[in-house]
Amino acid sequence: MVRQSPPIDLSIPYDAAWVKGKTILITGGASGFGAGFVRKWAANGATVIFGDINVEKGDKLARDVQKETGNNNVHFVYCDVTDWQSQVNLFKAAVKLSPHGGIDTVVANAGIAGNDPIQQPGNMDVAEPAKPDFKVADVNFNGVMYTTHLAFFYLPRNPGSKDCSTNSDPATTPRDRHLLFLGSLASLAPFPIQPQYGAAKHAVLGLFRSLRSSSFVQGVRVNLLCPYFIDTPIVTTAARVVLAGSALGKVEDVVDAGTRFTADSRILGRSLVIGPKVNVKQLENGEWVLVAKDSPEGQERAVWEAYAEDWEDSDAFCRALVGILNAAQKARGWTGWAKDMVGAVAYGLGFNRG
Ligand SMILES: NC(=O)c1ccc[n+]([C@@H]2O[C@H](COP(=O)([O-])OP(=O)(O)OC[C@H]3O[C@@H](n4cnc5c(N)ncnc54)[C@H](O)[C@@H]3O)[C@@H](O)[C@H]2O)c1
Repeated sequence: MVRQSPPIDLSIPYDAAWVKGKTILITGGASGFGAGFVRKWAANGATVIFGDINVEKGDKLARDVQKETGNNNVHFVYCDVTDWQSQVNLFKAAVKLSPHGGIDTVVANAGIAGNDPIQQPGNMDVAEPAKPDFKVADVNFNGVMYTTHLAFFYLPRNPGSKDCSTNSDPATTPRDRHLLFLGSLASLAPFPIQPQYGAAKHAVLGLFRSLRSSSFVQGVRVNLLCPYFIDTPIVTTAARVVLAGSALGKVEDVVDAGTRFTADSRILGRSLVIGPKVNVKQLENGEWVLVAKDSPEGQERAVWEAYAEDWEDSDAFCRALVGILNAAQKARGWTGWAKDMVGAVAYGLGFNRG
């Protein structure tokens, strides 16, 4: 069922100018990756409408980018992703501000991290449990689900867009239907100190994997960015202390990976992991190893498609399992079907309930 393009050959360049003329909506665009996307895509001629709860930063960024790039199609709209109506207002504003009346790419980027009460037992002298604040899950997952639903409302209505295709020509495909998720390395690996963040980012991964097998119905392509720790305000001082000694990644490398996805309309259902730049070489068995910075056989890289094969293995496993279950169903034949139907009707009438 998985509809995806082949693994991305990162040695093949893309042209950032392919975003020219596209209308792009970004949530949480006032800082970090979002702000990086706004700058890069506006500089390359896209219309960018970004939402955020930080009005001061958002307004300033829109003004600065307009001035720096000469592109007046850069707009900030207040948006709290946890509030449905606030997200609706952002999408409506984007359609209104879009020179062609549609949206080509939606980036579900807004996110927060921080103190996670989920594992905290609280004051041991208090007998009654207090209701915890699950804001991290609310922003990082419920907010993303609202964005996803709105993307599936507006992207198929993008005038002049066609169903996404691995055969499209990015240089001549200005109208697109693209949803880009911000996962994390915490989508793929445990995140011990912040289980709520880890769970929310795993949920984003689940959303992406479920959609990439079905979004072809609406002609929408979905892709996922999974950054490692990158130098933005979301990484707290405490985290920086814990991480001391291992370099943080750079926003520009996340922007590079996000621009490849947004610019290249041939990429469907893929994910990229972004970390700090390292000098590496690939062995014959496929394994990557670190080499000295000046080594002639090394290459510098920050972007990887490290986990794609894992997913393909588990997707292939599920497909094989469903195949076996379908074969078992066939072997039971019409007698098995009739037996189950009698059971289902009896259940509906209130019989045989545990
Ligand atoms: N920086 C990292 O190390 C890292 C790693 C992996 C994934 N990510 C993810 O990347 C995304 C962007 O993070 P960043 O590193 O740029 O952080 P950031 O803090 O610089 O930017 C996040 C933006 O989201 C906004 N925001 C927060 N709550 C919001 C809400 N309710 N509604 C709308 N906007 C809201 C903030 O005001 C901020 O401008 C997040 O989803 C984050 O989880 C970051």
